[in-house]
Parts: sequence; C-alpha cells; structure tokens
Amino acid sequence: MAFIEKKDLKRIFSGVQPTGNLHLGNYLGAIRNWVNLQNEFECIFCMVDMHAITVWQDPEELRKNTRELAVGMIASGIDPEKNILFNQSRVSAHAELAWVLNCVARLGWLGRMTQFKEKAGKDKENSSVGLFAYPNLMAADILAYKATHVPVGHDQKQHLELTRDIAKKFNTDFKKEVFPIPEPLILGAGARVMSLRDGSKKMSKSDLSEYSRINMTDDADAIAKKLRKAKTDPLPLPSTMAELEGRPEAVNLIGIYAALKDSTVEKVLPELEGKQFSEFKKDITDLAVSVLEPISSEMSKLMKDTSYIDDVLRKGAERARVIAEPVIKEVYDTVGFLRD
Ligand code: AMP
Ligand code: TRP
Repeated sequence: MAFIEKKDLKRIFSGVQPTGNLHLGNYLGAIRNWVNLQNEFECIFCMVDMHAITVWQDPEELRKNTRELAVGMIASGIDPEKNILFNQSRVSAHAELAWVLNCVARLGWLGRMTQFKEKAGKDKENSSVGLFAYPNLMAADILAYKATHVPVGHDQKQHLELTRDIAKKFNTDFKKEVFPIPEPLILGAGARVMSLRDGSKKMSKSDLSEYSRINMTDDADAIAKKLRKAKTDPLPLPSTMAELEGRPEAVNLIGIYAALKDSTVEKVLPELEGKQFSEFKKDITDLAVSVLEPISSEMSKLMKDTSYIDDVLRKGAERARVIAEPVIKEVYDTVGFLRD
C-alpha cells in the first residue's frame, strides 16, 4: 500500500513490446539499467502486448514472448515483489484512458511521429489504425499511473514529448491539474550495441541473421560461436579512442566488452592495447558467458513452469489496477461521464 500513499513519490513507468528475440542490446541498453532504478524509484514495468499487436503477431508466439520478456527481466535482477511487473492487456485502464486521449491528441501531432513513418513505410494506407494511434496508448500507459519519470532511449523521445503535450492539453482543456508532466530519464551513456555482422547497424530482433545478435536465451556454446564469427578488421586493438575512428566493428566489440564489465571504452583500452582480435575474442567470450549464462539458465528454468510467471503477472496486474483505477475515475469525472 505504501506504493500509492507516498507523497513526493518518484514513479517510473516503462514498457517493452513482447515481440521476441530479447538480445544483448536490450540487456545492456535497457534492462540492466532498470535493475539499478529499483532502489531509487517505485517502478512499474509493463509488457505492452497491446502495443505489439499494432503489427501482426501470431497469438501463440505473443503469449510465449510475453512470458519470456517478463522472465528475462526477473532473471536479470528485477525483483517482482519490489516492482510491479505485468502485461498491459490485463489492466483495462490502458485502453480506457487511451480512448479519452485519442480525443485530446490532434491528428497533426501524430502525423509528425517519425516512428510511424518508418514502420508504416511506403504502404501507409495498409497499416493498422492502431499503429498510427499507438503513441496515444503509450501516453495512456504513463499517465494512468501518474508516472513522474520515464526511462527513454533515443527512439522513444518523441513519443514522450507527445505524452507531455497530451497531458498539458488535457490539464488546460479541463482547467484541472489531473496529470503530472512526466520527465524523461536519460540513463547514463546507455550502451548502443551494434550487429555482430555489421558494426554500423543496430543489433536488432528483426535482423534475419541469428549471427547478428546474442540472444538472452543463448547458452555458452551459442555465445562463443557467435562471437567467434563476429566481423572484425585486420588491425590489432589500439590504445586511444582516436585510433578507433573508422573501425565500427572494433568499436562495437570493445563497447560490448566495456559495458559487460560495467566500465567504459576509455578505461578498458589500456588493458587491450596491441591484442589481436583472435585473443580478444576469447576474453570477450569468457566475459559474456560469465554475465549472460546465469541469466539464460535462470530464464530456461523459469520458462519450464509457466505457472510461476503467470502468477507474477497476475499479481502485478492486481497491484497496477489499484493505482490506475482511481486515476480513470478522476479522468471520467473530469471529462463529464456519468458514473454511479
Ligand atoms: P526494442 O525491442 O527494439 O523495442 O527495444 C527495447 C529496449 O531495448 C529499448 O529501450 C531499446 O532502446 C533497447 N534496445 C534495443 N536494441 C538495442 C541496441 N541494439 N542497443 C542498445 N539498446 C537497445
Ligand atoms: N513504445 C515503446 C517501444 O516501442 C514501448 C512503450 C509502450 C513504452 N508504452 C510505454 C515505453 C510507456 C515507455 C513508457 O519501445
């Protein structure tokens, strides 16, 4: 209960789409940072299944990916007792508030969202209405909990800006400070992990090559094999940042090495100077296995018995509802909906 009664509380909301292939980029760029947030903030972590269906999802895959995402977070150290973990569709407040916000946000605002333009591609007419309206659902996710802070990567900054505009317009239109204006939380120099096959492309769940990414479910053998095949260049490792110019694969592998060590590229360079890639690949493999293997084996253990994770998500949703339902009531009253 302390969760909802604290006054000057800092509350985080973050959502991730359960669309499969959790990889090293998700771990180093997002999940690992959230583990550190749980001591300072009250955190709500949501598997946004309703966002996922803005593009086609196979139903069985969606169920599996939702569980796997939650399991990946827990195996990485996110405590499901201390934080709230749940899947979005279990809490109706998201859809309810999204409708109201659909009527607050302007068509022109959504038309400027670069992610829609990218995802819809050339065939805009054939994309789902949900894909276009999706930023309003994201705003509802955040505002239904009156979250004060949202950890955002570069690609979500524009959506958070829109959330802030929607919250301000709602408060102004109804002359009532219903929503706090959420702040972006820019987390350190978040590691940007690139593809193991091409150092200029982001490591991504949608890359067709399995060798482009290390999945969080990969065992030691798979990790070793992928790193052995990772693209490199012919030079030995340099001693300065300046010498890394124009060597994207070296930058990426050293960046991964540093991030896995919780360090920075500058700090690890002296230790690596002059090494050949063949030797460095052994070091990075040992390190990656030592960090990731405990996570992947915990994930496979937790995925064996789905009743545990389903229970976590059910209980998380109950706790989420306790916070979101009074906000929906306040919004409905503010808008002028008759209620009993
Ligand atoms: P996605 O699954 O692409 O929607 O990403 C989920 C989270 O992981 C977001 O916070 C992203 O910023 C982060 N992320 C995804 N890919 C990478 C990457 N290659 N490097 C760093 N962070 C990433
Ligand atoms: N749109 C985010 C993404 O694609 C996921 C997301 C949904 C989210 N709702 C959110 C992120 C609320 C932060 C806060 O990655």
